[in-house]
Amino acid sequence: MKPHFFDLNYGVTRGDFMEILHVAAECFPVAKAGGLGDVVGALPKYQNRLGVIAKVVIPMYRTSFLYQEEWELVHEGGQYLQEQFFKYSIIREKSNKLGFDLYLVDINGLLDREKVYGYSDDTERFIAFQLAVCDWIFHWQHLPTIVHCHDHHCGLIPFFLTQTNQFRSRLQGIPTVFTVHNAQYQGAFDWSKHTLLPPYDSWKWNLLDWHGQINPLAAAVKSAWRVTTVSYSYLDELTVHAGGLEKLFEYEKGKCVGILNGIDTEIWDPSCDPYLLFHYNKATMAEGKRKNKEEVCKEFGMDPSLPLFSFIGRLVGEKAADLLPVAIQDALLHNPGRANYIVLGSGQKEIEYQLQELRNIAGGFYNCSIGYQEALSHSLYAASDFLLMPSRVEPCGLNQLYALRFGTMPLVRRVGGLIDTVIDIGDTGGYGICFNEASVWDITYSIRRAINLYYENPEKYKGHCAQMMELDFSWDKAAANYLNLYTQLK
Ligand code: ADP
Ligand code: GLC
Repeated sequence: MKPHFFDLNYGVTRGDFMEILHVAAECFPVAKAGGLGDVVGALPKYQNRLGVIAKVVIPMYRTSFLYQEEWELVHEGGQYLQEQFFKYSIIREKSNKLGFDLYLVDINGLLDREKVYGYSDDTERFIAFQLAVCDWIFHWQHLPTIVHCHDHHCGLIPFFLTQTNQFRSRLQGIPTVFTVHNAQYQGAFDWSKHTLLPPYDSWKWNLLDWHGQINPLAAAVKSAWRVTTVSYSYLDELTVHAGGLEKLFEYEKGKCVGILNGIDTEIWDPSCDPYLLFHYNKATMAEGKRKNKEEVCKEFGMDPSLPLFSFIGRLVGEKAADLLPVAIQDALLHNPGRANYIVLGSGQKEIEYQLQELRNIAGGFYNCSIGYQEALSHSLYAASDFLLMPSRVEPCGLNQLYALRFGTMPLVRRVGGLIDTVIDIGDTGGYGICFNEASVWDITYSIRRAINLYYENPEKYKGHCAQMMELDFSWDKAAANYLNLYTQLK
């Protein structure tokens, strides 16, 4: 049993043991909007197993996890956001049930909302969160070995620790790692709001600036000791496609490293997943998947004898979800009565509308569920034969890794982490279907390849599914890679 913060002798200094504090906006199962939550909810657990102390701090939202668990108050403090003083408290989940110490920052009226993002004052909310985290660390009697920040919501922390009068005296020596999960989201805001930030040496303004705005993602890339991306190929892509930050990534590439995400194989395990009606493993895959498909098809009014294609994800341009209505319509036309299609997702209203309308002309071969449903997502990974991921941008992608684990063949565009994790069945050792363009043509062509394989070469198809279930994308390797990186900074 490892000690946690409160068991430790407060006199110890940094360096006696390795203690990592992950700071993020999401952490599964407390608060999840996408893959960031999955990563922050799993990586620290696997790191702890390697003999270090990894902890997580996120905002205290009003999610069901908050009300179901027991918490203890560990710190109270206050900060200024402009001239507005706010109080904050840090609470800790008592049972350590997630496999790491989880801390929540409560700021009355700012953070305690139902959703993670999407409010008009998100800039103020996340600056206040970051101030509270820095102030809390400032009051630790020992200091963490590493502060590991994830995405732009925590992107100002490396700057706050090193450049602000308030924090740098005690905290500037703490190495910071910043992980870019998605550079499309940068959290940029106007310089007129710069008074939200604590005082800093004014000549350091350029550490915050990108193209005339305060840009937390750019600030993190400039100020953090090391920057990581969630796959190798995404790191390469960022110098040519980074939502305007390409030159910055090119300039800073010496401190950037790609570390491929893993998955939590204990949560995503078809042999014991509590969300599944029928459990299965590699040996019982055919029967297990068939039974799960029968259940899902019953729910969606479909014929379970047909192959099932699913899409699970945010309905946004990044995921090429705008192409789905036409691509599915084309696939239905060109492969009549040969496959079913289900979409689970939420996002842009016009895409949601088109996907709902498509039901009217799909003759029972297509259906969709608009919304976020964790349970249904697990059932779909298990029930589907194929998973569609035509993403325009995919820094890593976890869906294809879950699909592989569940024996479901991914159809992916060759981009970002999808390049690093899926090999086409036409190539040596391949187990998925890959295509080059985020276009209706490439999606429908790949669907045709999948349907042909399924009907014309069922043994080969089943062989690939068994092969996929044997692949190891667990966090063990990635957790060790992060530790190597931390050790270089310690
Ligand atoms: P991103 O983080 O860009 O959305 P990822 O592939 O990394 O993409 O992770 C997406 C995560 O969110 C996966 O766990 C996926 O199952 C889940 N997910 C996405 N949309 C939904 C939804 N509508 N309902 C349930 N789970 C979803
Ligand atoms: C982001 C990316 C996704 C990645 C996830 C976890 O949301 O869009 O590709 O898998 O973060 O790192």
